[in-house]
Amino acid sequence: MSVVILDFGSQYTRLIARRIRELRAYSVILPGTVSWERIQRENPEAIILSGGPASVFDPNSPKPASGVVESGLPVLGVCYGMQYLAQAHGGKVERAGSREYGKAVLSKYSGALFRGLEGELQMWMSHSDAVTQLPQGWKVIAASQENPVAAIASPDGKTFGVQFHPEVVHSPKGMQVLDNFLELAQVSRDWTPGHTLENLIAEIRTKVGNDRVLLAVSGGVDSSTLALLLSRAIGDKLTAVFVDHGLLRLNERAEVESALRPMGDENLRVVDASREFLSALSGVSDPEQKRKIVGREFIRVFEREARKLSAQGYRWLAQGTLYPDVIESAGGEGAANIKSHHNVGGLPADLQFELLEPFRMLFKDEVRELALLLGLPENIRMRHPFPGPGLSIRILGEVTLERLDILRRADDIFTSLLKDWDLYSQVWQALAVLTPLQSVGVIGDERHYGYVLALRAVTSVDGMTADWARLPHEFLDEVARKITRQVPEIGRVVYDITSKPPATIEWE
Ligand code: XMP
Repeated sequence: MSVVILDFGSQYTRLIARRIRELRAYSVILPGTVSWERIQRENPEAIILSGGPASVFDPNSPKPASGVVESGLPVLGVCYGMQYLAQAHGGKVERAGSREYGKAVLSKYSGALFRGLEGELQMWMSHSDAVTQLPQGWKVIAASQENPVAAIASPDGKTFGVQFHPEVVHSPKGMQVLDNFLELAQVSRDWTPGHTLENLIAEIRTKVGNDRVLLAVSGGVDSSTLALLLSRAIGDKLTAVFVDHGLLRLNERAEVESALRPMGDENLRVVDASREFLSALSGVSDPEQKRKIVGREFIRVFEREARKLSAQGYRWLAQGTLYPDVIESAGGEGAANIKSHHNVGGLPADLQFELLEPFRMLFKDEVRELALLLGLPENIRMRHPFPGPGLSIRILGEVTLERLDILRRADDIFTSLLKDWDLYSQVWQALAVLTPLQSVGVIGDERHYGYVLALRAVTSVDGMTADWARLPHEFLDEVARKITRQVPEIGRVVYDITSKPPATIEWE
């Protein structure tokens, strides 16, 4: 059973899918114009039509398959989706006098879709077309100050259109509207983490049978959760390989080993390849070169391990690919559209594994929920993103053992204090960057040359854009004092106050 979300190119389509799952109903995104047969394969209980950039009166605008309207299933049309519904049922849509964009206030609203809500409602709008004439028998159920038709309902009370975006955070009560729709549509609410876990375990067992599975773990939340999940599903038929490239943070390897202990030491293979990585990086300052070298070395080491192990007949290679990487969105290219940097995606074809990707249908938050059920320790579950090339791209210039050691100690002070001050979970990512600059300082009566260390902490939703985190001055003060006291090689600490864009989150 599912809620099928037909994507007409809105930037918020994924957000709708996540919200529906947060409301414990399973949701799937399909391109807006897929066939009715394809939609039926998902066993839909309800359908949501997303927004999108097109205008319904453009003859080439994308339209859902006719079964969507004819099937009698409950439908919620959002923005473009609402305009389509109005037009398809015989109403009229016209270009609005002015574009309504941003926060709008619903002054009047009524009916089941707004059950439980009262007072003025703030909702996010972004549209240039408007419904000017309703289909026969339909009712207006909400109006904003600028738009007399902000939401509509069909005569049978099963199909709705909303001109606003209930899925975005700028619509603070939007979740209640979505919740009401799911109630009215009598959608099953069994998408709980426990249920997901049971389903995944059963699926993995059926798929894998008695075969062996190889997994590369990086220490991030996805691959660590996958290790625990697979180990629960297939026990010692799983071998996880953790390549320590020597570019990890302080104590990171030990933390990962301890987090994965429940899967059994004999099923976790830790490969210390730090020397190989460091010698390959020797003399290299260019960031893109560093990335290429780390990627290449990783594949080399993993391939070597896999060959050693393949004598034991590994059929499957497991990867922590997530739903956003595979969504068949209107704008994307479907399942083939997997990020090229995705962990071991670059492995040579002659290794001939079959891919096992149990998280293909999950969002990151759902993986975190599974991680909780599987007992993954909080320090890994809630960990900030960490780039594949590790600290090599946080040391500007050449990567040496000495510089790694300096950065590790400073980074650890920054991270530990963020946790002590309860700030760690409030920022999306925090990092320390060791610059090659040496600046003058004074210690006692002596002049002292020390490295300039940059701290960066950002707030973000997905890392695509970011703002610098407004960390308290007293906190930054304590970090700077502690770092310069305990890491004497560092003479100066600066805080990066650039947003992305124009800067990126990492310095390299
Ligand atoms: P930027 O610096 O591009 O970073 O704003 C956005 C997010 O991506 C991470 N990042 C990487 N992750 N390999 C990765 O696996 C890389 O080469 C890489 N470069 C940046 C970065 O840490 C941030 O979370």
